[in-house]
Amino acid sequence: MIRTGFFITFEGVDGSGKGTQVEMLKNYFKEQNIDAIFTREPGGTKVSEKIREVILDNNNKELTDVAEMFLFSASRSVLVENLIKPALKQGKIVVCDRFVDSSISYQGYGRNLGADLVEKVNDIALNGCKPNLTFLLDLSGEIGEKRNKQFVEKQDRMETNSAMFKQKVRLGFLEIAQRNPKRFVILDASKSKEEIFGQILSELEKRKVLTLHKTKKKPENSHEL
Ligand SMILES: Nc1ncnc2c1ncn2[C@@H]1O[C@H](COP(=O)(O)OP(=O)(O)OP(=O)(O)O)[C@@H](O)[C@H]1O
Ligand SMILES: [Mg+2]
Repeated sequence: MIRTGFFITFEGVDGSGKGTQVEMLKNYFKEQNIDAIFTREPGGTKVSEKIREVILDNNNKELTDVAEMFLFSASRSVLVENLIKPALKQGKIVVCDRFVDSSISYQGYGRNLGADLVEKVNDIALNGCKPNLTFLLDLSGEIGEKRNKQFVEKQDRMETNSAMFKQKVRLGFLEIAQRNPKRFVILDASKSKEEIFGQILSELEKRKVLTLHKTKKKPENSHEL
């Protein structure tokens, strides 16, 4: 049987709990012998991580909003072609912490470049690679801010944006989700980590993602030839 890959993305404002849920899913997949690749944006490949440094560096004051949009999509193109597409072709699950919807929300809505423009530029970067399922961790800016302040000592260039910017980004995410109801699952990120994770697992079960990607466990005493 040829297994097809499945592409899952996590989206949401800063501090909404994406990294936390991705980590929980990673551990769960490991326990369950589910074949998956985990990555993050911006980054995930050598070149993409270099671009990430440019984007997040607080010293890069001369970056324009348009340049920022291109940098994110350049990093995405490298990740898509070098890691995501090959893994999907091999029938794997790919999980990405942030993806194209972050660009549409942050640059399109937050920076006012417009969702249409950012989507068009990113269509070139994606080259047909779209997520099958997107979990949106929806959280008010206030709670996100509080969570992050407790743990993050130094904010990067994207995190230093104003509360107004963050509110626009949150509404941007919700609008994109409304336009793509089949792909999106909106989760209330103010709930407990465990409760959210339970919802994530039940959505994956509903879509039969877990059963289809479980690899057969080798018997304890088997030897590699
Ligand atoms: N459901 C939750 N309830 C309470 N605290 C949470 C919850 N989920 C995550 N946190 C805490 O909030 C903080 C931010 O979480 P996390 O780093 O996972 O968010 P993120 O969305 O990845 O943020 P960023 O966009 O800044 O990378 C962490 O300290 C984490 O332990
Ligand atoms: Mg994170």
